[in-house]
Amino acid sequence: MCGIVAYIGGKPARELLLEGLKRLEYRGYDSAGIAVINGGLQLSKTAGRVRVLEDQLGQDDRFDGTIGLAHTRWATHGEPSDRNAHPHEDDPELGHGIAIVHNGIIENHAALKTYLMDNGHVFASDTDTEVLAHLIGHFYEGDLEASVRQALREVTGAYAIAVVCAQEPDVLVVARKGSPLMIGVGSDEYIVASDASAIVAHTNQAIELDDDTIARLTTDSFRTSTLENVTITPQMRELEVDLEQIELGSYPHYMLKEIHEQPEAIRRCLKGRVSARDGSVVLGGLNEFARELGRTRRVVFLGQGTALHAGMIASYLVEGLAKIPSRADFASEFRYRNAIIEDGTVVVAISQSGETADTHAALREASRKGAMTLGLVNVVGSTITRESDAGVYLRVGPEIGVASTKAFLGQVTASVLLATWLGRRRFLSPMEASSMLETLNTVPTLISRVLDQSDQIAEVVGKYVQRDNWLFLGRGVNYPVAMEGALKLKEISYIHAEGMPAAEMKHGPIALIDKGMPVVVVATRSSQYEKVLSNIEEVRSRGGHVIAVATEGDDSIRNICEDVFFVPDVPEVLQPLLTVVPLQILAYHAAVMRGHDVDKPRNLAKSVTVE
Ligand code: AGP
Ligand code: GLU
Repeated sequence: MCGIVAYIGGKPARELLLEGLKRLEYRGYDSAGIAVINGGLQLSKTAGRVRVLEDQLGQDDRFDGTIGLAHTRWATHGEPSDRNAHPHEDDPELGHGIAIVHNGIIENHAALKTYLMDNGHVFASDTDTEVLAHLIGHFYEGDLEASVRQALREVTGAYAIAVVCAQEPDVLVVARKGSPLMIGVGSDEYIVASDASAIVAHTNQAIELDDDTIARLTTDSFRTSTLENVTITPQMRELEVDLEQIELGSYPHYMLKEIHEQPEAIRRCLKGRVSARDGSVVLGGLNEFARELGRTRRVVFLGQGTALHAGMIASYLVEGLAKIPSRADFASEFRYRNAIIEDGTVVVAISQSGETADTHAALREASRKGAMTLGLVNVVGSTITRESDAGVYLRVGPEIGVASTKAFLGQVTASVLLATWLGRRRFLSPMEASSMLETLNTVPTLISRVLDQSDQIAEVVGKYVQRDNWLFLGRGVNYPVAMEGALKLKEISYIHAEGMPAAEMKHGPIALIDKGMPVVVVATRSSQYEKVLSNIEEVRSRGGHVIAVATEGDDSIRNICEDVFFVPDVPEVLQPLLTVVPLQILAYHAAVMRGHDVDKPRNLAKSVTVE
């Protein structure tokens, strides 16, 4: 959550920082702010979006400097407001002109604040971040890097920060622990940002800062060191994102663009990994650990939100295809439950961003307890990819819409590959694998067929969009799909929706059903098809309206459902790759019809980098 961007070089910083903020805005949009050093510290901030900040700045020439930093916030401490917007300053009384932007949480902010207040500091906001700003100012004796280092030794929690000081107009100091930060290296300039999207327009060379590291940047030098001031040599890497991938193009929203990119995204995810003829899967990232993974006795999938839903599907796949006991868990619960890791346990973190704090922390905990750790991650070089033993990249391209769509499909596809890879080392026969993989190769084309129904789905949504309560039901691998459909609807249209196993409905939630309540049921031909039909009848006999996702050719289902979206017939293990698509489109249309900002839903942020 939150995007930070900072610049030092020869170009006007304001334009560059604002442009960077717009690219990072999907990470948080409660407020925006900028600080530039230009004959002293110039600072402007406001509640609301980056465009509000842009209007506020206008052409004010006080912001014409070539060093500065900026922030787009997802509030954790203190309401979204002008005064809580970043950047935050140290105590103005001290006259240092220090400004900081921060992503994360300073957990011991209360104790530090008391200490600082006892020492005469007066605070201007309710944020934890301002405490760090004051602490840096408190230690400042003419060397910004040294005072940042000293302050960071006192704080607990997570941070990615950028700091400038009017008294050292040629120095930018950045640091990180637990929140992402990347330094783009140009010629005689550096662009620091929470992720590559704010950097790629300027350079494709970048350094990924490690945890507990500080970097001091001037226009022509940089030095990175540990909190204990030991110099370290960071690895430079080439960024792979190209600008076109992160542009909206002709689409009105990123979410719609990303839904439509799914066929291509899955093609990329599969490319070079599947040999349908001999029923084998090639996952380069796992080769080194093939022997160890061959001895896997249990697989635990961890994630949050959409990624967890993919993990739930993955656990069905691993049990079904590889015959290895498996389960999925909220990373946040696993982390604190003192989970038991037996010999042969493989823990798989699933994450689009690779930066989700809950998932990252759980992965570390699993690793500490001796589990082998894998990551199914989209963002190359992200924290989870660097900290897991091995992994499989999703390769679906950058996902900007806060509501995850193509990443989910990538996560499920990668799970099918992983389950088959494990299965082929155990009981899965080449023939079984081969026929399933042959169909998997056709899934991108089949998804396109589902996308063609967008207008019909919109028509159906139009009938129910005023209803404030929806249910989503499914069984087996389509139960997590129901959960995902409900989550999509909740997060962008603010309609209350619950997803659950179809059989669970009669154990309580059935009491919610009243006349005309929309109930979305994944009712594709599967091992539990007949049971799902009974559940549909249970809904109908209580007045609920059923919107079914059914298998093409199953015309009889129309007799018991108000509305039906059809998906092509594929083996059960592959069904989630198709059944989720109408639910994504449904949520999208509902949000548009209700007039919401589809790509930036209220209270949310793309990547949640605090626990
Ligand atoms: C999905 O639509 C959500 N915005 C959210 O649940 C997300 O999937 C979750 O926060 C995990 O993110 P990650 O995949 O980047 O780890
Ligand atoms: N904890 C800080 C705040 O609430 C930073 C939040 C963020 O990461 O945007 O201001």
